[in-house]
Amino acid sequence: MGAEQNYNMRVVRWFALMTVVWGLIGMLVGLLIAGQLAWPVLNFDIPWLSYGRLRPLHTNAVIFAFGGCALMGSALYIVQRTCKVALFSDRLASFVFWGWQLVIVSAVITLPMGLTSSKEYAELEWPIDILIALVWVAFGVVFFGTIARRTVQHIYVANWFFGSLIIGVALLHIVNSLALPVSAFKSYSLYAGSADAMVQWWYGHNAVGFFLTAGFLGIMYYFVPKQAERPVYSYRLSVVHFWTLIAIYVWAGPHHLHYTSLPDWLQSVAMVMSLILLAPSWGGMINGIMTLSGAWDKLRTDPILKFLIVSLSFYGMSTFEGPMMSIKTINALSHNTDWTVGHVHSGALGWVAMVSMGAMYHLIPILYGRKQGQMYSIKLINLHFWLATLGTVIYIASMWVNGLMQGLMWRATSIDGTLTYSFQESVEASFPGYVVRFIGGAIFFIGMCVMAYNVYMTSRGLSRDELAAPAIPRLDPAGANP
Ligand code: HEM
Ligand code: HEM
Repeated sequence: MGAEQNYNMRVVRWFALMTVVWGLIGMLVGLLIAGQLAWPVLNFDIPWLSYGRLRPLHTNAVIFAFGGCALMGSALYIVQRTCKVALFSDRLASFVFWGWQLVIVSAVITLPMGLTSSKEYAELEWPIDILIALVWVAFGVVFFGTIARRTVQHIYVANWFFGSLIIGVALLHIVNSLALPVSAFKSYSLYAGSADAMVQWWYGHNAVGFFLTAGFLGIMYYFVPKQAERPVYSYRLSVVHFWTLIAIYVWAGPHHLHYTSLPDWLQSVAMVMSLILLAPSWGGMINGIMTLSGAWDKLRTDPILKFLIVSLSFYGMSTFEGPMMSIKTINALSHNTDWTVGHVHSGALGWVAMVSMGAMYHLIPILYGRKQGQMYSIKLINLHFWLATLGTVIYIASMWVNGLMQGLMWRATSIDGTLTYSFQESVEASFPGYVVRFIGGAIFFIGMCVMAYNVYMTSRGLSRDELAAPAIPRLDPAGANP
């Protein structure tokens, strides 16, 4: 109990709250661009609100702001609880929080202004890139410094995943962002031609692997056993899962560059590695879901557990779909169509967002001095769960229909060898799918609003003085898991 009193829960609480705030903003922008694709009038003829500028704002806001805050908050919480020691440095932890918010605010200002490096998921210009590197390294120092000071010998598996997230993303970000600045807001990549594309997709794919996957698996390995109040199904499997996942992910990047000027053998290696990636991905999913063995009944009554387990099902689904899409002949059909967007959001909404929401519902009450999972309203968590699930299914189903249709229309040829359909016809045929996607996105977004209300009401339960004091978790950490 002694060490718990020194835990830095303040920074965790800040990150948890900003997860909700950035989730709302990022998804609202997502909804707007979904609307723009159906009704272009929603661009309002204002450059700052045009699709091309808002799309990277959406991806940055949901991945790095919403996802990043969920990851950093969870990592800083879990590392303290499982190492039974307070953070290495409270000051540095505050710097990580404020520095990260500054990065995000800079993105919110510069992207709508049209300032971009034009590298997908790495659009921010060089001064912001330098800030990202500094904040990320500070995050690493706080995290690994805490591990080094731990009072238990064992390093719980969730920390392995967070550790790989920190080292992996530092490497990816620094190498991919190397650029020659020509002015305060413009730089050119140090790489050229297909080497540039190769580095970019080594980054892009491993951002999925280490940011959107490994980090959230760290969240999963802590919060699923905690919420289910059972030990993780197989600790041995979790270790095998960890090493195989990180060893295989790094080879798969060129599946984003099939049929390009990249050497053909490289594309084939990426395809094979992507197919092999199915095994560790499903190993992790099975390990998470089977943690519930013997306690399946909890799913009936615990909406937080529903969030966590259904997120694992979507993780399994997207990691089955991904390897299929990396097969070159299938990619010839799916590439550049809405199928990719559907795949992205089955991972992004179904896995990343839902596992984060489950984790936050577990965590936020603890941060406000309540019991684990004791939110203001359990009914509203349940409502959110159904809105999120329904929204995700509607979103991805509409994109599958659109994607397959677009791929087939683009390759259809008439008897004389000419294209059967013009591109314009395929855009017109996609309209209903875009409307349905907008509806799915709106449902998902409404769920996020329900969450924000629930979190706000949970936070109001205590007086201002109590809120200002560092919240001490009430849970006994010496449960089935550390
Ligand atoms: C209300 C929820 C959301 C809506 C309505 C939405 C909508 C959209 C739209 C319309 C696009 C552009 C698709 C295109 O270019 O054709 C997009 C792209 C993207 N979104 Fe979302 N989104 C939502 C939530 C999320 C979340 C939570 C994440 C991540 C955690 C995410 C990650 C992405 C990514 C990575 C892309 C780029 C996809 C690609 O390049 O293929 N989105 N989103
Ligand atoms: C075994 C796991 C996975 C494999 C092998 C895989 C494979 C693929 C493939 C082949 C593409 C299409 C590339 C293209 O045609 O341009 C793709 C796109 C994408 N995937 Fe996955 N995927 C996996 C899991 C995931 C997960 C879990 C997520 C999200 C959480 C995700 C996020 C993305 C994103 C964001 C893109 C779009 C990139 C872009 O063009 O902007 N993937 N993936």
